[in-house]
Formats: sequence, structure tokens, C-alpha cells
Amino acid sequence: MASMVKSVLGAPINLLSSCLSLDGKEREQQSAPYRQTRRTADELRRYQEELEEEKRKRAAHCEKRNGERAAMRTHFRHKYQLAQNAKDDNHLNAVGGKAVLPRELAAVVRSEVPPAQERGFSLFGSFQGLDFRALRESAQNSSQQCRVIGTAEGARQLRRTARCRGFAEGGRRAGGTAVEGGVRPFDQIPSTGRSGWINLARFWKEDVFRTLHLHMERTFNRLGPIYRERLGSSDSVNLLLPQDIGELFHSEGPHPRRMLLEPWAAHREYRGHHCGVFLKNGAEWREDRLLLNREVMTPAVVMRFLPLLDEVARDFVGRLQGRLERGGRGGLTVDLAPELFRFTLESICHVLYGERVGLLSDSPNPEAQRFISAVALMFETTLPLLYLPPRLLQRLGAPLWKQHVAAWDHIFQHADERVQSGYRKLRSDVTAGGGASDRKYPGLLAELLLKGELPLERIRANIMELMAGGVDTTRAVPLQFCLFELARTPSVQDSVRRQVQLALEQAEGDVAQALRAAPLLRGTVKEILRLYPVGISVQRYPVKDIVLQNYHIPAGTLVQACLYPLGRSSSVFSEPLRFWPERWLGSGSGSGSGSGSGSGFRSLAFGFGSRQCVGRRIAETEMQLFLMHMLRNFKLEVKSKTDLRTKYTLILQPESPPPITFTLLNPEP
Ligand code: HEM
Repeated sequence: MASMVKSVLGAPINLLSSCLSLDGKEREQQSAPYRQTRRTADELRRYQEELEEEKRKRAAHCEKRNGERAAMRTHFRHKYQLAQNAKDDNHLNAVGGKAVLPRELAAVVRSEVPPAQERGFSLFGSFQGLDFRALRESAQNSSQQCRVIGTAEGARQLRRTARCRGFAEGGRRAGGTAVEGGVRPFDQIPSTGRSGWINLARFWKEDVFRTLHLHMERTFNRLGPIYRERLGSSDSVNLLLPQDIGELFHSEGPHPRRMLLEPWAAHREYRGHHCGVFLKNGAEWREDRLLLNREVMTPAVVMRFLPLLDEVARDFVGRLQGRLERGGRGGLTVDLAPELFRFTLESICHVLYGERVGLLSDSPNPEAQRFISAVALMFETTLPLLYLPPRLLQRLGAPLWKQHVAAWDHIFQHADERVQSGYRKLRSDVTAGGGASDRKYPGLLAELLLKGELPLERIRANIMELMAGGVDTTRAVPLQFCLFELARTPSVQDSVRRQVQLALEQAEGDVAQALRAAPLLRGTVKEILRLYPVGISVQRYPVKDIVLQNYHIPAGTLVQACLYPLGRSSSVFSEPLRFWPERWLGSGSGSGSGSGSGSGFRSLAFGFGSRQCVGRRIAETEMQLFLMHMLRNFKLEVKSKTDLRTKYTLILQPESPPPITFTLLNPEP
């Protein structure tokens, strides 16, 4: 392993091009503090110790949080003369009978205390479990505790400031689509209703969240290509047209931000976990992101992990083939969704940890199944929590919040175990001097550990997010849509298959080369994500005032590019509802009427620019390899060609997965 690492990392790191467009000087600045390379066995041992130490700290942190909450509950039970609770007593005893409350709990308790008591002797302070003076100090110093939350609040403040500045001048002051007659103020943007809370209540009552993508489409039809929507405490401007979206992305600044998934951030804060790139912002985000880009986004790295993805795709196809052969003549009609979830989880684990986890075996590990269920629950509970203050629900102990935390805890525990075992394996490999002949890609985790460019806790946080951000669902679902569209459009299926077969023949088995020679595979993936974007919007907070559709948008406003209506709009694509992968090949190939300014902003399923999906290359490669092997071996058919009904649960998915009939193309004689 050691010699492999040496040969692999022999080239200076700064020669590896980053996919962010940095100039040489900036790259130099970013990498200078991280010049140290390869870990020794001793360092890895220290790492292990650090890991143990961190685990202890986390346990202590949890104990402290439990103590704080127990203290608060004890206070209220005492106040309302309710029976005390043995579990809370235990939590309090574990922290020595006293707890210093963080800001949010302190605020709850403080609102109970009359000012006179706060000044002098505090009856309150003598309550069991509460050190009120320390509590007050902690509340005053707590701004640092809420870094993640601070960023969301910062955005709101920025927005308020921007709005207060006003925009009295007419004409075009910022970039964007302005027309004669002066720019109209922000408040005149067509809106779905003035009260966010009434809107939210309507969304709940009419179950609009479940079909948010269709709601967006209807609203654009009703109000035009830009509208404003207040939902609970959130307030966003929604965009349909590529030229406006282009303008938005041009004003995203060097540290682009998207809408914070507050329930996720609240979980990290609640459990004292570090954040990875998904939840970070600002300079910290950029530093981690530049390093990750080098490890997962460059063409050279894609070539290294491609064989791992190819192995899993071949395995999947081989197993399906086996099932068909065992079933005798004729096809197999099946809903492949559960197998696809296992396939994508197996693939991502192979790339992250460099080893197979056995999910495609005949008796897959039940723990993996529980992991998949936890991921599904995490997504389901995120959406309703998005528009409610998670901290309030947390305080109230709402079942929704508890389920969300339990789902995340399971995901973290699972990924933590994988990180630990990957780490142990690496250590023993390095101690044993490594296997010089083992030139296989060791997995992203091992690469990051060996290079030593990021502190351990940041490696763990990012690996966790790559696993959670790229969880099986994000790729398994588009693959379901892909199989369905190819099955119901035989002419497209045939032409993609012909290209694949030719490409494989010409490449003489070199899969990477075959992928390059079969652009229709890439076109198919793009076309599926146009019609069924996994995330139905991409959001940004512009860092400067802009003008869109002749409305003034103040800096700091939450603005969303609405991908589902964009992908199906006849003002952007010709024949928008047709599944037509060729539209993405070359220029003038029927991509629609949206040429000219902003025409590059039509394929945005992975987001845009320096903040785009960091797992993009993994996902694209995996999906193309999957389709290549499937089309080569099977003919796909569906009974009903009716459009699929879709639902939105933070990702867009079919209401019920379509059963597909698979027939072997070259059955064994
Ligand atoms: C079809 C598959 C996928 C789609 C459609 C998708 C889509 C997206 C989108 C739209 C974003 C936001 C980008 C932006 O704000 O501009 C994103 C971010 C992200 N994705 Fe993906 N993703 C996919 C697969 C993956 C995979 C496989 C991984 C992990 C290996 C992953 C990890 C992440 C992470 C960590 C971020 C946050 C990046 C950052 O903020 O710097 N995604 N993804």
C-alpha cells in the first residue's frame, strides 16, 4: 500500500487541476499550509487515538446536552408541581447535578424569570440543576456556538438591510433583464400571497409539498416567469427562464450559498457533529471544497475510480442475468427499485471505502437495509421540518423532530463504523509495508487520510456528507426513470444500444474509452434529469443587487432556479415532453428555442459553478456504466406507456415504481 501510495502521489499535488477556476496564486495560497504529505504508521496510530478521544468527547457532549435538557424539564416540573422523572435525575447526576444552559434553552427559562430575580439573589438559581448566573453568561457568549445557524440568520439580516436601502432609482442599476420605463420594486413581484403562515397552512392542508414541482409549474403558468413565495418564515423569488438563472449565478460571489437545510444543520449542532461541504459556508467551505474537488472531480481521478463502479455495475447485471436464466424462457417483469437502492449504495461505498460491502449478494446484510430505511426516513422528515423552526420543535420534543434525529443518528452510526473500519484497514496496510502489487484505487477515505491535507474530523464530516448527500436515493431514482423512459420509447432504446455496442467493439473492452465514444449515454442521463430533476430547484443568495424580469432583487434574497418547470417549458425546449437524448448532442440539435443569452443554463440538475454537486462525476459515471451494461444485455419493455405520476419528498420520485419487463438479448443456447 505504501509504495502504491508513493507512486500514485508522486506527482506534486498542485499539478492536479482543480475544477474550480482559481488562478495560480490563489491555488498556491490554498495549498501552502497543506504541503505535508503521506502519513506514517505512527501518525495513523495517533489518528486512531484522536478518533477515540473524539468519541469520548462526543459522548461527554451528549451527556452535557441531556443534562441541560433534563435541568430545564426539572425546572418546569417543579414550577408546575409535576412529579419528577427518574431518567432526568440520572441525566442530571451524570453532569454532577448542575447544567449550564445554551442560548436557546436559556432564552426559554429567562422569559420565565421576573427582572428583579435576575438582578439579585435568584430563587431560580437555587433550583436543582440550574446554575443561572453561568447560564446568563453562556447565553451572552453563545453567538459562537451557533455558527451554522448564524449563517442563515446572517442571510435574513443581509436581506433586511438590502431592502431597507431601497431602490429608488429607475432604469437598470444591476445586471439582468430590465426594460424601458424603470425597474419595478421588489414588492411588486407577482406573489402567491402576502402571509407566509397562511400559505404554509394551505400547503399543509392541501398537501402541496408532495407535489411542489407541479405547484411551481402551475404558478409560473399563472403569474409569469418570476414569482415570489412566502412560506412560513421563508421568502423566496422563483425563476423559470435560463437567462434569468444565468444572471443569478453570475452574482453568486466567491462563496456561493444555497438555502440551508436547517433540520440537517440543527441535527449537527444538537449532536455536536462537524459539518462537511454540504452544510458549510464561506472560506471554510471553500477550503474543504477545493481539496475534495481534486479527489473526486478531476478527469484523472474519475479514471481511477471508474473500474470500481464498473465492477459493481457488471455484478448487478450478471445477477439479473442469472435470475432471468433460472426463470427459463421469456422475460422477467419486476420493479427493480429495491435492487437499485442496494446497487447505488454498494457503488458509493466501493468508491468511498475502497471495498465491497456485499449488498448485491443473495442474503444482503440486514444492517444495510436498515441504513436504507433510515435514509428514506431522513428525507421524508426533512421536508415538513424545512418550514418550521427546528429548534422550537426540538424544545417541544415533537415526534417529527425525534424521528428526524433518530434517522440521522442511524446514518451517522453506520457511516462512522465504515470510517473506523476503513481507517483500521489502512493502518494495518501501512504498518505491514503495503502491498506493492495492489494498485487498485484505495477509496476516497484512504486517499484523504494518506494525504493528510485535512484534519481527521473534517475528513469524517465530509465522508459522512458524501455518503448522506449522495445517498443511494439520488441515483437509484433517476435510474428507475431511465429504465422506464427507455422501455416506453423503443426507438430511443435501440439507437442508444446500437451506439453502445459499436463503442464497446471499437474500444476493445476499454470501458472508459467506450463511454467517451457513446455520447448518447451522457445525453440519456441529461435528458432524464431534465424531465425528472432529483432536486426540483437550485438556490442562491446573490451577493449584489440584480434586476430580473425588470424587478429589483436586493442582495441576500433567496432566489431559486426551478428545474422541474424549466425542463418542461416550451419556451425553453422544443417538444419538452418528448424523451429525446439526441437533443443534447452538439449544437442545433433541437435543444429548443431558448438559444442566445442564458441558453447555457438549461441543464442544471447538478447545480452550477463552484458550488455544484461534488458527487457529480461519480453519479454520472455510475449511471452511464449502469445503462451501458443493461442495454447491452437486456431488452426493456413496459405494459403501460402512460406518464408516471410523481411525488416530491425532498427528491422527485415516482408515486409507485413502474414494473419493467427484461428479456435477455443473447440468451444462452
Ligand atoms: C443524480 C445524482 C445527483 C444529483 C442530481 C445531485 C444534485 C445535487 C445538487 C443540485 C446539488 C446542489 C448544487 C448547487 O447548489 O449548485 C448537490 C450538492 C451536493 N451533492 Fe449531489 N447530486 C447527485 C449525486 C451526488 C452524489 C453521488 C454525491 C456524493 C458522492 C453527492 C454529494 C453532494 C454534496 C456533498 C453536495 C454539496 C456540495 C457543496 O455544497 O459544495 N451528490 N447535488
